[in-house]
Amino acid sequence: MKLTNSKLVKKQADLHQWYHQNSKITGADQYRGLSEFSIVPPQKDYRFAEQLNLDFPEECSDISLLDSMLQRRSVRKFSGEPVGLSALSTLLYYSHGVKNRIGSLHSRSYASAGGRYSSEVYILVKNVEGMKPGVYHYDGVQHKLDVIHHNPVNDSFLINEQEMGNYSFLICIGSYFDGMTQKYGERGYRYCLFDVGQICQNVYLLSTALEIGCCAIGGFYDDELNRALGLDGHKESSILVMAVGRQG
Ligand SMILES: Cc1cc2nc3c(=O)[nH]c(=O)nc-3n(C[C@H](O)[C@H](O)[C@H](O)COP(=O)(O)O)c2cc1C
Repeated sequence: MKLTNSKLVKKQADLHQWYHQNSKITGADQYRGLSEFSIVPPQKDYRFAEQLNLDFPEECSDISLLDSMLQRRSVRKFSGEPVGLSALSTLLYYSHGVKNRIGSLHSRSYASAGGRYSSEVYILVKNVEGMKPGVYHYDGVQHKLDVIHHNPVNDSFLINEQEMGNYSFLICIGSYFDGMTQKYGERGYRYCLFDVGQICQNVYLLSTALEIGCCAIGGFYDDELNRALGLDGHKESSILVMAVGRQG
């Protein structure tokens, strides 16, 4: 597939152009096969963490997928009332949980380039019925939460933290870049962002069906959030935050 040979652009200040042009596939490139690479584990291993079992996900309301799509919108004003643990469980399972495993391969409710599934999902709980506040990692294979810590959540990494302050919990989506870039090179970074975008849309549609509000938040201090989640910011970094709560 020959698109163009112009992989380099001179205006280095336009970082997005620099990156986009340099991550094109040109006729000179050869796609490498999956078999050359180790299969990436489905998620990070917090094997020594305390775990919180989640109930089997509940049915959503009778709302159809098409209606969810039509009614979906960003909610920024939350009442401060807690969201229930079962709603959190449903949201996590259908947006990012593992549906099937065949050997070391697994599938989720969204597609991922090469089945690499580069995203990890973290939850910062402020006010959820039946849960202690703190930071958790979602184990989508076992449908459990790994406890990272139970310290009170400091959300000063949000640039406008006051705006949505009454949320119930934050979903923080991180990318583990190596899993993608080992197979796709620098182009793999694009695919990491696609994974995050799909989880984001799943959360929007599910929230609508569960009659709770949510809003994607791209405005955050990356390094501060990475520190809050215990991510190194290089191999794995936070990409997107979503505030979820009862609508105010
Ligand atoms: C990647 C991304 C980042 C966003 N970041 C913010 C944000 O930082 N603050 C905010 O209030 N809304 C944010 N939004 C929500 C958009 O502003 C919102 O989707 C847009 O205004 C369209 O409105 P709607 O979602 O209600 O249709 C973000 C949405 C996306 C997809």
